[in-house]
Amino acid sequence: MSDFGIIGIGRIGTSMARNMSSKGIIVSLFDKSHNSLDNLKNDYPELESSLVFHDINKFISSISKPRKVLVLVPSGPALDEVISLLIQYLDSNDILIDGGNTNPNVSFENHQTIKSKNLLYLGMGVSGGVKGVLEGPSIMIGGDTNAFDQVKNIFSQITSKTINGSKSFEFFGDSNQGHFVKMIHNGIEYVEMQLISSIYYLMINSKKYMYDDVAKIFKKWNDIDLNSYLLEISLLKLTEKTDDSYLLDIIDDKADDNGTGRWMLKHAIDLGCSVSMLNSAIDSRFISGNNITRSKANKMIKEDKKEYDIDFESLANAYRFCRLINYFQAFLLIDSANKSYRWNISISNALNVWSNGSIIKSKLINKLLSDYTVDNILDDKHIFNNLNELKPGLIDILNTSLINDISLPCFNEALNYFNQISSSSLSTKLIQAQRNYFGSHEIKIN
Ligand code: 6PG
Repeated sequence: MSDFGIIGIGRIGTSMARNMSSKGIIVSLFDKSHNSLDNLKNDYPELESSLVFHDINKFISSISKPRKVLVLVPSGPALDEVISLLIQYLDSNDILIDGGNTNPNVSFENHQTIKSKNLLYLGMGVSGGVKGVLEGPSIMIGGDTNAFDQVKNIFSQITSKTINGSKSFEFFGDSNQGHFVKMIHNGIEYVEMQLISSIYYLMINSKKYMYDDVAKIFKKWNDIDLNSYLLEISLLKLTEKTDDSYLLDIIDDKADDNGTGRWMLKHAIDLGCSVSMLNSAIDSRFISGNNITRSKANKMIKEDKKEYDIDFESLANAYRFCRLINYFQAFLLIDSANKSYRWNISISNALNVWSNGSIIKSKLINKLLSDYTVDNILDDKHIFNNLNELKPGLIDILNTSLINDISLPCFNEALNYFNQISSSSLSTKLIQAQRNYFGSHEIKIN
């Protein structure tokens, strides 16, 4: 009999199985596609003791009770199908764990359905990609406390050590909070990726710097407070070549997404919170994919790109400013969700669990934990002082970008957001008056 079942043996499922097996956990593996199972044991000797099944019935029978089954399939029809299958085959008190990126709203619904069948549920976000999941992922969990108690020993064996010395998994609440925290992680990831990409773009378009020069700057930053996993991998990609051509010279600029950023944006809209930096990061992916519009518009204007200088101290400070605002917006969204849904997600616990194993791991996360009161960011004078000090750098970089027709998604939004939230009086006074004129909406007086 095995200790644990995994359904969905794609790239992440394979890494998870290898990680567990290498810790002596016997896993049963099932995938609808036979191909993904055929060479598994040959390719990965550490899976020797695992039990591989093409038949769901035999797979279920091979797991010791109460069964723990981790589902790693894409959300949508594939996940729906696996959940309805498992509901038929599992017995009372068995545990179904959804380890994919699932919309927290769907995670909530799934929990209710699974509970009604006397099964236990965990909605779990897993970060780290193929390598991270193999070596020690960052795991964000929500769902039945009783289920968590039964699996935490396994998670403690397969995760990394966080900055606080704990293992990189955390239980965030008895409902869909695990998937919610993973969604926030991904929103932060989208912005971090866009900021780095905007910086590379600003440098390359100046006609003064080549990929190696950008790489040099990123390398320098990686040795200081700006270090992050995403900056590290960007550095590798900037200098990657295929047949003498730089990858970035031949790569298509259309960036796709799998929906997690959109979900976060929708949640923010529902809660009336601004995540303008995420919005900009998503927009830039949408625009990148709209080939027809872009080529038509490009033919209508005369592109006239000139050389320009970049002040690197300003650039580093602009980057620092934007990264702080990105986290600031994410913290306020978590805070708003806590208040509206009567949750108790701890922002410091979220940062801690992201501090190792996750895609967004960085020195900034460590610094946020040590230097700021992240669970009450609005009362933290320190962050506002820092933002004020960094702001001239951002203005300088935005000036350069505006004069030279270089779009810097996320940078403009960071400044606009900061100026608005820190202003005692906004343009929306007149909006109140306009609404009153045409809709007889009541005017609120101070
Ligand atoms: C992770 C990543 C991963 C996610 C994509 C991001 O933490 O390991 O966040 O879970 O699937 O990398 O999603 P997009 O495909 O939407 O960019």
